[in-house]
Amino acid sequence: MAAELTGRVAVVTGSARGIGLSIVRLLAERGASVVVTDINVEAGESSAAELRKEGHNAIFIAADISKETDVIQLIATAIDKLGSIGILVNNAGIVSTGPVTDIDLQHWQRLIDIDLTSVFLLVKAVLPHMMERRSGRIINIASVAGLNGGGLLGNSCYAAAKGGVIAFSKGIAREAGQHGVTSNVICPALTETDMTASMPEAQRRRIIDAIPLGRAGKPNEVAAAVAFLASDDASFITGATLEVDGGFMRR
Ligand SMILES: NC(=O)c1ccc[n+]([C@@H]2O[C@H](COP(=O)([O-])OP(=O)(O)OC[C@H]3O[C@@H](n4cnc5c(N)ncnc54)[C@H](O)[C@@H]3O)[C@@H](O)[C@H]2O)c1
Repeated sequence: MAAELTGRVAVVTGSARGIGLSIVRLLAERGASVVVTDINVEAGESSAAELRKEGHNAIFIAADISKETDVIQLIATAIDKLGSIGILVNNAGIVSTGPVTDIDLQHWQRLIDIDLTSVFLLVKAVLPHMMERRSGRIINIASVAGLNGGGLLGNSCYAAAKGGVIAFSKGIAREAGQHGVTSNVICPALTETDMTASMPEAQRRRIIDAIPLGRAGKPNEVAAAVAFLASDDASFITGATLEVDGGFMRR
């Protein structure tokens, strides 16, 4: 029996490592042809090579997703090499912590460019192709910070960017639904990746204490939610916000 995503092409941003790598691996295991894309060329090349060694159809395309020229080139190359894109996962992002009074305009602008403008650029580049085929899945990775304003770490600026991603995902669900395309957003809480590895232990403890399941999430637990939203089982789900947070938002 063919795996459920066989014949589908998936682009996952920021997939050289962390949550993105788990997502791209799981989509490949479910049969998708995958595009690993990242600003980190060395790690991206090596992740794609690893996936190929595991028997998957995977290519790496370098891109800084905060730059429109890179995004246009990324999508054109992906379509040229693998065919029409059926699944877009906007995962790449940077985190920013600290009180707003410590954050200058340049830092804010970079955060918005990478965490929010990139999602606009990717959706704008991919959506016309999906609408033409009357099929497609857009899955955006935001954060619980986008739902509650951040707070525990004093990360209001990151929360603003991720809140924008959540609102944008819902808007795209409205715009694209009539063309057969779904748009959903996933909000992870603290997840064990390189991004969070350097977090001071006291901070980590405060967050974990606020998670009813009593632990941080794992990248493959976010990937499982993405694979579900990409699957036929999620064919009537759009505009949804899926919290993969161990109950953090219900604490
Ligand atoms: N780890 C967590 O606790 C957590 C919690 C909630 C949400 N998230 C979100 O999940 C996503 C993935 O997080 P992660 O923990 O795996 O992070 P990570 O830092 O481990 O990986 C992020 C990847 O994105 C890439 N990237 C960064 N800027 C880029 C750019 N301009 N262009 C292309 N690629 C770029 C990095 O090179 C890296 O490979 C992010 O959007 C993050 O905000 C993470």
